[in-house]
Amino acid sequence: MNADGANGKKCEIKLSGVKKTYRMGEVDVPVLHGIDLEIYKGELTAILGASGSGKSTLLNLIGGIDKPSEGKILFQGRDITILEDRELTEFRRKSVGFVFQFYNLVPTLTSKENVQVSTEIADNPMDPVKALELVELGDRIDYFPAQMSGGQQQRVAIARAIAKNPTMMLCDEPTGALDLKTGQSVLKILRKLNSELNMTILLITHSAPIAQMAHRSVHISSGTVEKVEYNEHPPDVEEIAW
Ligand SMILES: Nc1ncnc2c1ncn2[C@@H]1O[C@H](COP(=O)(O)OP(=O)(O)OP(=O)(O)O)[C@@H](O)[C@H]1O
Ligand SMILES: [Mg+2]
Repeated sequence: MNADGANGKKCEIKLSGVKKTYRMGEVDVPVLHGIDLEIYKGELTAILGASGSGKSTLLNLIGGIDKPSEGKILFQGRDITILEDRELTEFRRKSVGFVFQFYNLVPTLTSKENVQVSTEIADNPMDPVKALELVELGDRIDYFPAQMSGGQQQRVAIARAIAKNPTMMLCDEPTGALDLKTGQSVLKILRKLNSELNMTILLITHSAPIAQMAHRSVHISSGTVEKVEYNEHPPDVEEIAW
């Protein structure tokens, strides 16, 4: 089932011939034109491409937020495109942690309570305080979003995603709203989760330097995979020339 890649790593997600066409009134809008792609367990994979090339659409299909028009998406060997809505919801809850550009925290809840929102619906959650400690916010558990910086809020959002103990994290421009230095601190956390918890991470970014920290970079162009680059030993965030 989980075919091993050339590098001996297990294939966690395999897309074959994935197409997505949105219907806008009477008009079909084709966005993905047949994506074949493998994502490996424990790797940090960057997804790059021009605005409108289909990166977020692709991530939403992998995360089970939306379904492809054609093609298969195997997650650990199981085709998620044929799941009933209830099973797909279960898949999202158990297996996927989402992080978006805007943190989507509940303003009236503290950090700890924001994380609890996701642990309450998970089967095997982490202690919310432990999740906040992992993102180096152990001293901010009782703070409200308005009392924290953008980078801290994004780290709460990351803690919320990892506290469910997901198999993979899907991050759509997680540093898009942050300045360089704050963004780097968020990237360092993602890198740490990848190396210490062996978490599979997909990271959409417009930044070539950010992509350097990935094991694999997937370049999307007009709804197709243009090329995939592999880097067995990506540098630390501090070593990258920004
Ligand atoms: N729900 C939708 N209905 C109709 N068209 C859509 C929908 N979602 C996305 N699209 C179209 O699909 C194309 C790709 O959008 P997508 O959000 O995947 O791009 P992206 O690569 O993430 O771009 P960006 O870097 O700007 O975030 C766009 O042309 C967009 O208009
Ligand atoms: Mg996008």
